[in-house]
Amino acid sequence: MNNFKNLRGTVDLLPDQLIKWQNVEKIILEQLFRASIKEIRTPILEMTELFTRGIGEGTDVVSKEMYTFLDRGERSCTLRPEGTASVARALIQNGILNKPPQKLWYMGPMFRYERPQAGRQRQFHQLGVEFVGFESLRSDVEIITLAWDILEKLGIKELNLEINTLGDNTDRSNFQKAFLEWLKVNTNSLDLDSQKRIDKNPLRILDTKNVQTKKLLENAPRLFDFLSEKSLKRYLNIKEQLKILKIPYVENFNLVRGLDYYTHTAFEITSGSLGSQATVCGGGRYDNLINQMGGTETPAIGFAIGLERLILLAGKEVEENRATDIYIVNKGLQAETLAMDLSRKLRNYDLIAELDLSGASFSKQFKKANKLKSKSIIVIGDDEAIKNEFIIRLFNNNNSENKEETISLDDHIKLGNWLDENLLLKRSSINK
Ligand code: HAM
Repeated sequence: MNNFKNLRGTVDLLPDQLIKWQNVEKIILEQLFRASIKEIRTPILEMTELFTRGIGEGTDVVSKEMYTFLDRGERSCTLRPEGTASVARALIQNGILNKPPQKLWYMGPMFRYERPQAGRQRQFHQLGVEFVGFESLRSDVEIITLAWDILEKLGIKELNLEINTLGDNTDRSNFQKAFLEWLKVNTNSLDLDSQKRIDKNPLRILDTKNVQTKKLLENAPRLFDFLSEKSLKRYLNIKEQLKILKIPYVENFNLVRGLDYYTHTAFEITSGSLGSQATVCGGGRYDNLINQMGGTETPAIGFAIGLERLILLAGKEVEENRATDIYIVNKGLQAETLAMDLSRKLRNYDLIAELDLSGASFSKQFKKANKLKSKSIIVIGDDEAIKNEFIIRLFNNNNSENKEETISLDDHIKLGNWLDENLLLKRSSINK
């Protein structure tokens, strides 16, 4: 028999790990809900051209990292490497581009053929947020603060926000001319990777990791010096608002991001607690993308957070599982049917009610309830079944004096009162 293994760069998420994932997702979803941001789901598989045109052929993502193949109808398909291009396509295609402006989020798997390491996978997950149809600089500020607040809510420490502006098309093409001149003169002093980028994607040279090239770039022309008055004013105002909101940031003039669609604001959030893959969130404005893809001119801005990196960083408080509220111990033919019926009723109370299905001895079932740290147990044996009743018992923390009551299966009022007094009211006062 074959020993099958998952593909390199993909992982199985097992039940114990998923407790943390689910708690993190819950906190994120609450935050998005409170900010009135709505969900959008697009297909994982798209036409390849969506990404080559949307993200840019010269980018690493498109030229080296996409999972692209021909389907049985000979169409070139790609597993999405990111979500922004798909959201733009979906809004254009469904005619809901900018009427009214849209605040949207998505969460799901993305695929990039990268070298796997801690915090970097080939199948990974992103939470993305896109504000489409928003031009005001306050939308830039809201996007940045939203990302910041989500990370803070999850108890992530040592956050650093880096911001930059890439100006508009004219600013960038003026800069690019001067930069290309400078690159021509300095080609031989650049590292090999940067030399290769001169023709394909010169802006990316700015965020090289090569120390020597970095040093050399200190004397290169700066995009910042080519900004029009309008672009500069926009950028200065955003910085001012971030200061007022007490969101700490540092400026990084070399922050250009890896995707071609950005204009004006670009930002990344890193955490000092992560290793080399420190960027947990990246985003920026993309005012030309939708127009380029065939939609009407529509300004937009967004970000994406890498969930694997988030899980590595999230604090202890999101690791906890909610304990079982009631474990239903049952044995005997008639008792088992009644127990099944009761478990369904209990779940209507928003309680975690687990029905023992083992048919094992009472003592084994009690042990299981203990192991699960269930807050209470219900016992139904044949004696109880004949009388159409059950015993419900609350576990004290110190296990002394367990509070016990016998309740008739038809007495909903008594059951409701008991659950209120012993489980439900206690929970809401803890949650407050
Ligand atoms: P990105 O910077 O390519 O931006 O990715 C965003 C985040 O996804 C990264 O900061 C990182 O946390 C995570 N990420 C990327 N690649 C991997 C990987 N191989 N393994 C694990 N995590 C990874 C975008 O994707 C843009 N669509 C963001 C955006 C939305 N811009 C505007 N709107």
